[in-house]
Amino acid sequence: MGHSGFAPRCCGLAFIFLFLRPACGDVSYSITEEMKPGSVIGNIAKDLGLDLGKLSTRRVRIDTEDNSVQYCSVNLNTGELIVHERIDREALCAKKASCVLKLELVLENPLELHRVNIRVEDINDNSPQFKEELLKIEIQESAIKGARFLLDEAHDGDIGENAVQGYSLQANDHFKLNLNTKGGGRKYGELVLDKELDREDKREMTLLLTAFDGGSPRRSGTIVIHVTVLDANDNVPVFSKAVYKASLPENSHLDTVVITVSASDADEGVNGEVTYGFDHVSDENNNVFTLHPKTGEVRVAGPIDYEKESSYEMQISAKDGLGLASYATLVVEIIDINDNAPLIYEKSLTNPIAENVLPGTEVGIINVQDRDSEKNRQVRCSIQPNVPFKLVPSIKNYYSLVSTAHLDRELVSEYNITITATDEGSPPLSSSKTVHLSVADVNDNPPVFEEQSYSAYVTENNKPGSTLCSVAARDPDWRQNGTVIYSLLAAEVNGAPVSSYLSVNGDTGVIHAVRSFDYEHFRSFKVHVMARDNGSPPLSSNVSVSVFITDVNDNSPQILYPSPEGNSFMTELVPKAAHGGSLVSKVIAVDADSGQNAWLSYQIIKSTDPGLFTIGLHSGEIRTQRDISESDSMKQNLIVAVKDNGQPSLSATCTMYLLISDNLAEVPELKDISYDENNSKLTFYLIIALVCVSTFFLTFIIIILGVRFCRRRKPRLLFDGAVAIPSAYLPPNYAEVDGTGTLRSAYNYDAYLTTGSRTSDFKFVSSYNDNTLPADQTLRKSPSDFAEVFGDSDGSPEEC
Ligand SMILES: *[C@@H]1O[C@H](CO)[C@@H](O)[C@H](O)[C@H]1NC(C)=O
Ligand SMILES: *[C@@H]1O[C@H](CO)[C@@H](O)[C@H](O)[C@H]1NC(C)=O
Ligand SMILES: *[C@@H]1O[C@H](CO)[C@@H](O)[C@H](O)[C@H]1NC(C)=O
Repeated sequence: MGHSGFAPRCCGLAFIFLFLRPACGDVSYSITEEMKPGSVIGNIAKDLGLDLGKLSTRRVRIDTEDNSVQYCSVNLNTGELIVHERIDREALCAKKASCVLKLELVLENPLELHRVNIRVEDINDNSPQFKEELLKIEIQESAIKGARFLLDEAHDGDIGENAVQGYSLQANDHFKLNLNTKGGGRKYGELVLDKELDREDKREMTLLLTAFDGGSPRRSGTIVIHVTVLDANDNVPVFSKAVYKASLPENSHLDTVVITVSASDADEGVNGEVTYGFDHVSDENNNVFTLHPKTGEVRVAGPIDYEKESSYEMQISAKDGLGLASYATLVVEIIDINDNAPLIYEKSLTNPIAENVLPGTEVGIINVQDRDSEKNRQVRCSIQPNVPFKLVPSIKNYYSLVSTAHLDRELVSEYNITITATDEGSPPLSSSKTVHLSVADVNDNPPVFEEQSYSAYVTENNKPGSTLCSVAARDPDWRQNGTVIYSLLAAEVNGAPVSSYLSVNGDTGVIHAVRSFDYEHFRSFKVHVMARDNGSPPLSSNVSVSVFITDVNDNSPQILYPSPEGNSFMTELVPKAAHGGSLVSKVIAVDADSGQNAWLSYQIIKSTDPGLFTIGLHSGEIRTQRDISESDSMKQNLIVAVKDNGQPSLSATCTMYLLISDNLAEVPELKDISYDENNSKLTFYLIIALVCVSTFFLTFIIIILGVRFCRRRKPRLLFDGAVAIPSAYLPPNYAEVDGTGTLRSAYNYDAYLTTGSRTSDFKFVSSYNDNTLPADQTLRKSPSDFAEVFGDSDGSPEEC
């Protein structure tokens, strides 16, 4: 189990910035290799002070720097960092003394990044191993005591103590073992001749060499050394240098000559022919270089990649025909070439991003890597212009993608942000990546009506449910945030809820009449329609809709005086002395409609003596056409038609009974005034009525006579209150009567004007009833009116 070494190095300043920079706290752990998957490395949530409950919502995850194998993961419930894949230190770091697994812990909302270093400790899981099982060495019998012979090196995948620590040689008569240490700490052995050989005594011998490491428990490997004793007396080849150094740019072509080594042998012939070769090079180097056996040229034989191996160290040998060998070291340094373009990784991205985020909001984290070294590794990052985003350098090669302006989904709903990374190599390499970012809708637009206000015109007596007009509002937001619903704003029209007049279709905005409208009742009204979107919270706006009701000629003229035919028998007295052109009476009519529909015209359609009376076409005034003569019949009947000017026009008729008389004694004959066509029952009632009227008149005459008689002695107060009412249907404002006992034309005109003028000033809401003439309202007349009717030339009551 590894021990955790927590090393927080957090920059408190990070939070001063508008956006959240990746936190720069590091944690380090140390574990041994080959731990079972699922083993706990440490509690990273605790070590970083993260809220356990938020681990899954913040999408905690482990990223590796180069997106390779996922060695570790985080348990979201416990916050523990656990082994996910087998970690083999030898595969990961080979011979590197320090093997550190670099991971990143990424959290979102807000974005946060922690570096996690896991030091992988070696365990002694590899034994020392020789490349061959048998090593053949040929030694001349003339070799002197102390001569050294290089032995194969044993390899151990482990490092440090667990690597090869030493060798031991099986006890024998001739050789001792000498231990040496190479550059890099590698140990190798040499056979040292301790006692001269004698070919005649022993031609061959076999030795056992054991290599052991320092692990616990200790592991070891062996090789058999077969020594052949040679007879001749030769010179050993000698390399020109003990160490050959060469440098080679990476990606060098195959067959490129790296270096030429040479060794010279003083012998002649076969004994002087030197053969070069690699000596015990480790396997992985075998296919990278070739060494020509004769010329000593080292050539490239495989791919050279600085990023894989930056230098090679090899042992080379030179052997002559007799097998005498000497050794040298070849070191090839690889020179980095800018052959890796920077790589852009999208470490985190908030997508979609709400359109109402403030400028300066961090949208994503970008990581840029370049596998080259030094200058070739320096990367500059840029972003395309004309997008409201910028890149802000963060720790190391991390960049924050930050918004720089207010976003508006209704204008731009998505961005393709191209990020370009260029390194500083020569020539520089660059790569680019496009980040696709959608802008999410926020309900920031209220519905807007297409018109400032709406007007609807409807003719009265419309069918309930008929369409008046439609309103429309637009909302550019997305889906339900832009779905418009129409409704009527609650209000009252004439004391009734507006919903009893109109309805609006919530989806289409079409406005329907709920009831049939009556122009005579009201002529216009105003309602407010609200358009609301479906967002949360919803936004709304309202608009006024004025409804104008247009008149239809649906009211006949209403005759106020005389009362319509058949209802009563009012009689106008015409003095016998009346001259042509005298005003005799007046027909008064009103029409509840307006305008042309209330423009009345009067016409006599039947009369006893057609030449005697005329009627003013629009005034309704009845005048004598000529002087009354004695020959004229006393009873004159006129049937008057009143028509309005509507299309089609409506009319009403009335009968005017005129009595040419100065004398009330003639009154009983009034019964003859009625037309002969009346049926007997009506005649009977008429007779009763006439008798009543006669009686009344008689009484009246008597009273007048009495009054005349009294006049000389006392004031005539008796007249008050004893007045008959000839026209029962006049409203108060019709009450003034001129000297002839008929209404002055001005009043009739007033009545018309009153109706007409109301059309022009839209005071429709005021009740029309106020101005409608109630049929039961009785008109009061002053006694003087009657006095004049009866030609009382003696004077008014005031004279009394
Ligand atoms: C972004 O790229 C996608 C596909 O690459 C394309 O369909 C889309 O139209 C682009 N959008 C913009 C705003 O350029
Ligand atoms: C509507 O707006 C709200 C915020 O006002 C947002 O949360 C929601 O996602 C939006 N709906 C759609 C469909 O975009
Ligand atoms: C109707 O809209 C006006 C402004 O357009 C606003 O002042 C008023 O409050 C709105 N009325 C309602 C009931 O929403």
